[in-house]
Amino acid sequence: MSTIASNFKVTKVSESRLTEVDLKNIPFGRVFTDHMFIAHYAEGQWKDMEIKKLENFSLHPSNLALHYGQSIFEGMKASKNEKGNPLLFRPDEHIKRLNRSAERMCMPLFPEDVFVEALTELVKIDKDWIPDHPGSSLYIRPLMFATDEFLGVAPSETFIFVILLLPVGPYYDKPVKLIADPTYVRAVKGGTGEAKTAGNYAASLYPSKVAKENGFDQILWLDGVEKKFVQEVGTMNIFFVFDDRIVTPKADGAILKGITRKSFIELLKDKGFIVEERPVEIQEVMDKGKSGELKEVFGSGTAAVATTITQINYLDQVIKFDPDKAEIAPWLKENIEDMRNGRKKDPYGWVLEVM
Ligand SMILES: Cc1ncc(COP(=O)(O)O)c(C=O)c1O
Repeated sequence: MSTIASNFKVTKVSESRLTEVDLKNIPFGRVFTDHMFIAHYAEGQWKDMEIKKLENFSLHPSNLALHYGQSIFEGMKASKNEKGNPLLFRPDEHIKRLNRSAERMCMPLFPEDVFVEALTELVKIDKDWIPDHPGSSLYIRPLMFATDEFLGVAPSETFIFVILLLPVGPYYDKPVKLIADPTYVRAVKGGTGEAKTAGNYAASLYPSKVAKENGFDQILWLDGVEKKFVQEVGTMNIFFVFDDRIVTPKADGAILKGITRKSFIELLKDKGFIVEERPVEIQEVMDKGKSGELKEVFGSGTAAVATTITQINYLDQVIKFDPDKAEIAPWLKENIEDMRNGRKKDPYGWVLEVM
């Protein structure tokens, strides 16, 4: 047991489970490292912070998060550089977004510096779990949820914050087919679409199941009012390469402000592309897809990186793209992955090396 600057306890497992895991062959989201970080919030402050063995919680059946969904999370990644040191990608942006989600969901903010310190220490302890073959990395899942025990729709006064680590392979290993189905909506302006909160994902389950039954990989969400404007996809933001410009829907309060999206916009602008964040009508996408003006469509996300879209269906219209002709998504993917792995210099200060 040891203590570090923020006075959290560190208790390491006596025997790692890593020997039981094949890091070259890991299903996404099912394999967890040995340790987790945990902190408890009560009486207006975060306390009892600890890095310890990953283990189950014991919760009262009236736990408020289970009933009313007061729960938020993040998704980020770490890789290793050639020296074997872990590299964290934009941890400052992720804790800022977690705290914006916290505010929207009546939850306490988590101190940014303690987050970076806890995450750094945790990743250092479990660094042997970081896979190094192409397309794989360590997925990081910070999660905050309510722990008050009563039935009643009111904000909790107690919370748990945990950080889990998972070695992962690629999220999508093939190009993706989308359907823009106006039957269902994910989020509306003024709702919780911009927060990374559990309920948004719960709401997406049934429509996604229907889409899969109909042969699609994901839904291309349309706005909740007019069902006319494109929002985003599953766990990705979306980009359209029109002739001379690259367009992505404006973050209007109903879509998640992706950190990969933000990074891609910067990379593209620096490369000299014109990038527009603006409302995008689904009919514009279909029309430009048919006329050939729309060259390429791709999704951006921590897990998905840059995923090429090969087909979009909307009502009775279909547009298709040859994944072998995609140029922008592969370029972005290579650039961001090279930066995340330390193969390429990061001129932006996005990558934090853990030593
Ligand atoms: C709904 C949704 N949109 C977009 C994204 C992409 O965001 P980021 O690039 O920060 O991973 C995610 C990622 O988890 C998401 O869940």
